[in-house]
Amino acid sequence: MIRVSIAGVTGFTGEELLKILVRHPEVQIKHLISRQAGQKISDTHPSVLFDGETENLSVNIISDTDVVFLCLPHTESASAAYRFYERGKAVIDLSADFRFRNATNYRNVYGVAHPYPRLLSKAVYGLSEFYREKIKGAKLLANPGCYPTASLFAILPALMSGISSENGIVIDAKSGISGAGKKLAEEYLFSSVYGSTRAYSVGCHRHQPEIEQEILLITGKKPTLSFVPHLLPQERGIMATVYMRMKEIIREEAVLTAYRKFYKNERFVKVLPPGSMPATGDVSGTNNVRIGIAVDRRAGTLIVISVIDNLIKGASGQAVQNMNIMFGFEESTALK
Ligand SMILES: NC(=O)c1ccc[n+]([C@@H]2O[C@H](COP(=O)([O-])OP(=O)(O)OC[C@H]3O[C@@H](n4cnc5c(N)ncnc54)[C@H](OP(=O)(O)O)[C@@H]3O)[C@@H](O)[C@H]2O)c1
Repeated sequence: MIRVSIAGVTGFTGEELLKILVRHPEVQIKHLISRQAGQKISDTHPSVLFDGETENLSVNIISDTDVVFLCLPHTESASAAYRFYERGKAVIDLSADFRFRNATNYRNVYGVAHPYPRLLSKAVYGLSEFYREKIKGAKLLANPGCYPTASLFAILPALMSGISSENGIVIDAKSGISGAGKKLAEEYLFSSVYGSTRAYSVGCHRHQPEIEQEILLITGKKPTLSFVPHLLPQERGIMATVYMRMKEIIREEAVLTAYRKFYKNERFVKVLPPGSMPATGDVSGTNNVRIGIAVDRRAGTLIVISVIDNLIKGASGQAVQNMNIMFGFEESTALK
């Protein structure tokens, strides 16, 4: 059994994490950390069957923990990560604070200097299916963003199999409202979102450089890409529709075969049969990725559509998958 604590348990990803961890046979949930101590989980998350209450972060909690999940906003997470890491504890950070490999990128994207730049080189990017070997030895795990997870699963096989070019990739992505977290803002009110879809952060979303970084690191190819996120009038789910230039036009069946081969040992990834396309509802509440493929022969374009649940494979589910890899548990424990 390992002793697990969660910081930011009152938020969306914290709640999902707790739901998953209460059914994990190798985990003892020790501490639920919040800025406000004494909140009962039965009050904050009535649908989670767990009898506990929140505590403020303290040295005693750190000593009493083997692995901490940080479900905190970016720029808040780094200092908590440091406190656990320097005492030899494993850290799984769901925020963006350790996803960039260099501090200049972090400052450019997040607008502040990274407080612990030397830790960036210690962090392992937790796209589980692509970094499994590195994750096994990780003590500081940077869990990927939700849009990058959906996008990279769609893009990487085409680049790594030489089917499409790294230039001119277009990612048309859509997310349910829970992707924005619990913060109060007029644009996230029910009356602003219901019955309306809108694009936001076009050409300047913080996840674009994260996607570019990972394409370069995983494939060795520097991409040129456009990324347009949209907010959907639904609670959860991400759909990334990716358009890529084909190097030569091949049949749809050949692309499907290449994707199936690529993901053949991956229990969470399903490549759909010809003509089938995924929907966000198909993966809701699961750690699954579903991928649909079409070839537009006239335009010479490969279209790959992937869906995930932003709160599960895009956050808490992948975080538990990473913990399972780090601690040598069966990878799908508590995620089936
Ligand atoms: N939502 C998603 O789909 C998603 C997907 C991938 C990654 N992420 C990342 O995961 C992290 C958590 O996301 P979330 O959606 O769970 O966020 P959230 O619902 O807003 O919850 C964040 C929690 O962090 C705690 N917190 C500590 N310091 C805070 C501060 N200064 N301001 C606000 N909250 C503070 C709060 O708990 P207390 O008030 O109890 O202290 C809050 O409940 C973020 O970094 C996010 O970018 C989210």
